[in-house]
Amino acid sequence: MAYQSIEPPSGRFVGSARHKSLREARAPASPPRHLLSASILTIDDVDELCQLAYDFETGHATSTAAAGRTIALLFFQSSTRTRLGFEAAAVSLGAHAIGMEDMSSSRTNRRVGESLEDCAAVVSRLCDVLVVRHHEPGAAARMAAKSVVPVINAGDGWNEHPTQALIDIYAMRRGLGSIRGKSIAYGGDPRGRVVRSLMRLLSLEGPREILFCPPPHYEVPADVLAMIAESQIACRIIPTIDTALTNCDAVVMAPYDMTECAEPATSDFISPHETPPDYAINAEKIERLGSRTQLYHPLPRFDEIDPSCDDLPNAMYFEQVRLSRFMRMAVLDRLLSDS
Ligand code: CP
Repeated sequence: MAYQSIEPPSGRFVGSARHKSLREARAPASPPRHLLSASILTIDDVDELCQLAYDFETGHATSTAAAGRTIALLFFQSSTRTRLGFEAAAVSLGAHAIGMEDMSSSRTNRRVGESLEDCAAVVSRLCDVLVVRHHEPGAAARMAAKSVVPVINAGDGWNEHPTQALIDIYAMRRGLGSIRGKSIAYGGDPRGRVVRSLMRLLSLEGPREILFCPPPHYEVPADVLAMIAESQIACRIIPTIDTALTNCDAVVMAPYDMTECAEPATSDFISPHETPPDYAINAEKIERLGSRTQLYHPLPRFDEIDPSCDDLPNAMYFEQVRLSRFMRMAVLDRLLSDS
């Protein structure tokens, strides 16, 4: 798998001591591979990860690479799914997860000021993989530059969230049979970090078209639109979510305002959680439109999908969470196999 590689400074010894004598372990080795962006994944990588996730789910795969290894969870921003999802994946693989409940009690805080780079240099010598969430775009890449073990970007500000996108693709492949030729809509704030990673992977899947239903005050980022255009996938902006519910095979929803993506853990920002009716989905709307569109959401959801939808056959978002553990197991297994 062509995971992202950042060259360490020349002369640094990064050899793993697993299965090696101490003397052999001091030989120079390849630089660690990282998963910082969905852009480094090929369709073959996605196919392989989806197959491996399925094999973990069905008990046809076990990981020898991950057993007994240590996964450090460095979450500088709040998280439920990603943090506990990686922890659950680590447990299922026979690995161990370490981390701090609150990274502001580490030395990498505003008061003490140890750099992200030094944090990575230190913690990577205590574990086999770093999983990093931070409010600053590029934070995971900064840590990867100093880490002696693979780094997984678990969300960096507005930038990317590649494992969430892999989960979304895996869930849609499972729900739709195939994404190729399908019409996929994205509802809610299009600036979030999932959208960039997801559109990179969707571009590989060959959907017929991608529709966005963004709030009028937030535009789809230009680089995301350019990426879709480059893939020669039709793209439209639609004014209400009804169009998606009547025309699309699947809609991936996001909150109406994702500003919190770029906010530090100490921020006072409180998401407004007020989605205008034209942009929100509820059971009455699904029934009135006779919609069979599948509903996906990386979560957390607020009022953009009403809980009245949760028991409808359209609702895929909690199944998406169930599948997430197997995809994260696949990602950890592949990175640990290469390191
Ligand atoms: N989807 C997602 O990243 O959720 P968390 O913020 O809870 O990790």
